[in-house]
Amino acid sequence: MSKIPTLEDLEANLGGLTGKRVLVRTDFNVPFDDSGEIADDFRIRAALPTINWLTERGAQVVTASHLGRPKGAPDPQYTMVPVRERLAELAPGVELLENLRFDPGETANDPTFVKTLVENVDGYVNDAFGASHRAHASIVGPPQFVPSAMGRLLEQEVEVLLGLRDKPRRPFVAILGGAKISDKLGVVEALLDVVDALVIGGAMCFTFFAAQGKSIGDSLFEPDQVETCKRLLVEAGEKGKTIHLPDDITGVDAAGEYATFGTRLPAGAKGFDIGPGSAAAFTDVIMDARMVFWNGPMGMFEDERFAAGTRTVAQAMADTKAFTVVGGGDSAAALAQFGLDDEVDHVSTGGGASLELLENGDLPGLQALREGTS
Ligand code: 3PG
Repeated sequence: MSKIPTLEDLEANLGGLTGKRVLVRTDFNVPFDDSGEIADDFRIRAALPTINWLTERGAQVVTASHLGRPKGAPDPQYTMVPVRERLAELAPGVELLENLRFDPGETANDPTFVKTLVENVDGYVNDAFGASHRAHASIVGPPQFVPSAMGRLLEQEVEVLLGLRDKPRRPFVAILGGAKISDKLGVVEALLDVVDALVIGGAMCFTFFAAQGKSIGDSLFEPDQVETCKRLLVEAGEKGKTIHLPDDITGVDAAGEYATFGTRLPAGAKGFDIGPGSAAAFTDVIMDARMVFWNGPMGMFEDERFAAGTRTVAQAMADTKAFTVVGGGDSAAALAQFGLDDEVDHVSTGGGASLELLENGDLPGLQALREGTS
């Protein structure tokens, strides 16, 4: 596999950066609170090392990002204006284009849109790790036309996540949660080849319970994935890997009252979090590991009644001596909510991207940089 050019390679290819206009694709897809303020500027701050490196060398930096999922047309709900204001405080003088997804050419990877992006720029940097699993115009297009490189954030994310995959310290444990199992079964399958144990929480566990023939009441589950879960449970056994599922659940009973159950939920009950016994058991697994990757909350942690499982896992991530990596989105938000984000070794800016990199060992955005203008 050919090497991905770095910022230093770009500087050399452009014969210096002074006065050069460089397009930097960032992932400024940040969360907003109810009052319309940026709830967490982690992704903006994460791009600063690259932006500052370029501006210190005299480059004129133009950043570009998507925000949310607008439908290929301008939509005031997804304007970059608040992000631009925050960026102006953190990196004065750096431009930010309007939401890339206001143009249908972005998600369609339309060559005409790519051309408008690279018009008048001398070079391109991809620092949008969180979007590099998307073969979108701004991710895969520019390297075909202008000298390109990966930014510092992208470089660091790839190093850490591929390190998990390629040089695991054992026992290596992956903890997966969240609601949508269909998004994660591919990674469960791929991780079975890499990890020693998989810990499964969040609403995902109910599809596994259903695969084990357990009653799940009215809990969220994906009926069309039950067969795959059955197969994965068998496969895990054949590969000598352990899949840890919760052995108790908290949620509400048929009357809507808070309740704790075993692993057979009565009719009408809904599970919203792993129970205290499972949280303690998962803590033991995390404490005994030498490397842990966590993606997806253990329950509906936004509701304080169902935050205990996720909080306990987050605390174990902070306390363990293992090398700890948290992949993006909700699990990173949970860590921040519990004030533990500085207590793990690496918080990835990518959710889907970190899973896909672990699953495939590569991403469309990385391939595009590797192939470059060739
Ligand atoms: C993310 O938030 O995971 C990235 O910004 C990618 O966003 P997307 O899932 O809308 O492509």
